[in-house]
Amino acid sequence: MPRSLRWQKHKEFAVPFMTNEGEEEMIQIAILGYGTVGSGVAEVFRTNQELIDRRAGVPVRVKYVLDLRDFPGDPVEEVLTHDFQDILQDPEVKVVAEVMGGLKPAYDFTKQCLESGKSVCTSNTELVAAHGPELMRIAQEHHVNYLYEASCGGGIPIIRALNEALTADEIDEISGILNGTTNYILTEMTENGADFEAVLKEAQELGYAERNPEADIEGHDAQRKIAILSSIAFGKTVHYEDVHTEGITKITPVDIAYAKKLKMQIRLLASGYRSEGKYYAIVAPFLVEKKHPLYSVNGVFNAIFVKGNMLGDAMFYGSGAGKLPTASAVAADVIEAVKSEGKTLYSGWGEGKIGLSSLDTLNRRFFVRIPADRAEAAKEVFGEQIRLFDVEEAPDEKGFLTEVLTEKEFEEKASALGDVISRLRVNM
Ligand code: HSE
Repeated sequence: MPRSLRWQKHKEFAVPFMTNEGEEEMIQIAILGYGTVGSGVAEVFRTNQELIDRRAGVPVRVKYVLDLRDFPGDPVEEVLTHDFQDILQDPEVKVVAEVMGGLKPAYDFTKQCLESGKSVCTSNTELVAAHGPELMRIAQEHHVNYLYEASCGGGIPIIRALNEALTADEIDEISGILNGTTNYILTEMTENGADFEAVLKEAQELGYAERNPEADIEGHDAQRKIAILSSIAFGKTVHYEDVHTEGITKITPVDIAYAKKLKMQIRLLASGYRSEGKYYAIVAPFLVEKKHPLYSVNGVFNAIFVKGNMLGDAMFYGSGAGKLPTASAVAADVIEAVKSEGKTLYSGWGEGKIGLSSLDTLNRRFFVRIPADRAEAAKEVFGEQIRLFDVEEAPDEKGFLTEVLTEKEFEEKASALGDVISRLRVNM
């Protein structure tokens, strides 16, 4: 009997957590980790249980939640375990949501679950970037799935789009805003003049930031995400360590003031693209022009821009971090894993590695800040045509936009000038 009909027999099960001994037509799942995302996954299953059952074609119940901590008074108590072996050794558990974060013990737990025939769905960007191909191979060998929609772009269904909807295209570029925390910080600094440290703390309280927020603000989280998306888009592994990465820690209120004067926004962009058979990837803060679609992506929102050789341009936009958006993507993967029982789904991320080319030859404009007394020297080096201007916040300095230059040309000119206070790339 198809699952969509079978579920009808079990309509009566509409309680948050079930142990349901003796029920045959039912999928039991486990959640590893009851932190921000884990408690969100439990909430998604509690809130949308009936429709999840209908869409999965079978009742799906949370049988275990693994966490070292106790949660007195929380409904999770009924299904809480401190022992991973309870989950691993239970043949009824078919799908596991790994939402612990970090490599240890998530890597070992994931591997063991896959090897014992359980699909794993995860939000763990760090683990996917470090061990994705190996875990997908193990999943395939055991006819199960390793799904990681929530690892990139929070609730935005970008991985499914790449693996299922854009399979007829060569993808030439995938880029965008991939970190909610830094976008939230930059937006608050721009719109409300907020202080970096204070707004980072707020992002942590809102459940956007990583346990170690350095991963967000130094760009490492976006670095891993663009490596994952580029690997799927281009068909082979892009190692995240190879992606040139700069974070937002050096962005100050003076940069924001200059950006406002230029009528641009500062955004942490992550890009992977191919050109003439070569591959490039970068994560860095950019000045984004008003006419660009990423200009108005504010707060915790993410947006991912995809260019296909047949499709042309497409942009995916939505909640990029936070408990329920991320949990929604994990839960949807659980449903997908349930629906595909016995079959490993197609992934565009194939065997082999992509070597990234140096950024030296890439063309763009740059915004440069210099001490006011170096204005004449800047004209000598960058050309008489540059227009120097200043902002109230920094009366002792000047800023200017360069002509279009390669990265290498810019670096040569900047070191010939010396005294550059800071520079930002401009997204064109
Ligand atoms: N810390 C991440 C972010 C969480 O801010 O985007 C979602 O991956």
